[in-house]
Amino acid sequence: MGDHEKLLAQISESSDAEAVNKIREAALEQLRSAVPGLFASIPELPPAERKARGQLANDVKRQNEELLAACKAWFESAELRAERSGAGFDPTIPGTRPERGSLHPLTRVTRELEDLFTSMGYVVLDGPEVELDWYNFEALNIPRDHPARDMQDTFRCDPQGNVVLRTHTSPGQVRAMERMKPPFRAIVPGKVFRQETTDASHEHTFHQMEGLVVGRDLSVGHLIGTMKTLLRGVFGKELEVRLRPGYFPFVEPGFELDARCPFCTQGCSVCKRSTWVELLPCGMVHPNVLKSGGIDPEVWSGFAFGLGLSRLVMLRYGIDDVRHLLSGDLRFLEQFA
Ligand code: DAH
Repeated sequence: MGDHEKLLAQISESSDAEAVNKIREAALEQLRSAVPGLFASIPELPPAERKARGQLANDVKRQNEELLAACKAWFESAELRAERSGAGFDPTIPGTRPERGSLHPLTRVTRELEDLFTSMGYVVLDGPEVELDWYNFEALNIPRDHPARDMQDTFRCDPQGNVVLRTHTSPGQVRAMERMKPPFRAIVPGKVFRQETTDASHEHTFHQMEGLVVGRDLSVGHLIGTMKTLLRGVFGKELEVRLRPGYFPFVEPGFELDARCPFCTQGCSVCKRSTWVELLPCGMVHPNVLKSGGIDPEVWSGFAFGLGLSRLVMLRYGIDDVRHLLSGDLRFLEQFA
């Protein structure tokens, strides 16, 4: 075995990084100094000797390059061996867990209410967030020049004002009437939009859930009974309710339904010391609205309610600022994990 082969064997059998490194440095040194010298000397030799010197120079260069490659391979496999041996691996260090999200409080309450209402025979419907003026206002007995439009400052999507971002989930009432044959019961949860100056209790985007029941001979008694069941489902107890007159063009009569404060008996900050919390507007569906939905008001009657989902979620979890809900702030959201 020549010197070169010996060195190569030495490298592959070595278990000593230091020794391999020495060989590597020697080879590098040769390539840097001796090899260029050999090549440079060729033109100074008599022609007969040049060929042999050229071969020698090439051999030395190639051999040193081989040595370098072998050293490199040795270091690479040494690294692999070290990794595979498990030295330096601590099995007690906890792994990296995948981050897990959780349901948004709005989603939770929506799903709970959907369960509650489907158990009472309601279907859950969806409506478009970009809505026609017809469904959002006109069909709900709010014509173009009606002052009730001022109560809902509206984002319009086209210069003619035929397309709007829905300002409430009530357009779902007429869409439900178009889709289903009476008698039926439906809820329409979703996002609504209003041009609001935002503060702790106002947000341009918030959530509502519309409810609509169409049947024969429905009365305010059915409405109150349904609302009491809803409250029992949400707050887990029987709550006294009261109705105050409320004006909404699409119901007649229309009401504001208040419930006894679920958090106190003497008055607290939630009920502003009154022991009553304003919970939801509701009423008996106006005959014009039934007509808009293609339903004969002489035969059928209905009641409807407009639950402020965002407000309900705030009440339920004691959230003091509506703007937290859609902030996407993890410090807020992680509290519900
Ligand atoms: N859509 C109304 C609003 O957002 C709320 C409302 C009032 C809904 C009375 C109803 C209702 O279904 O009967 O201001």
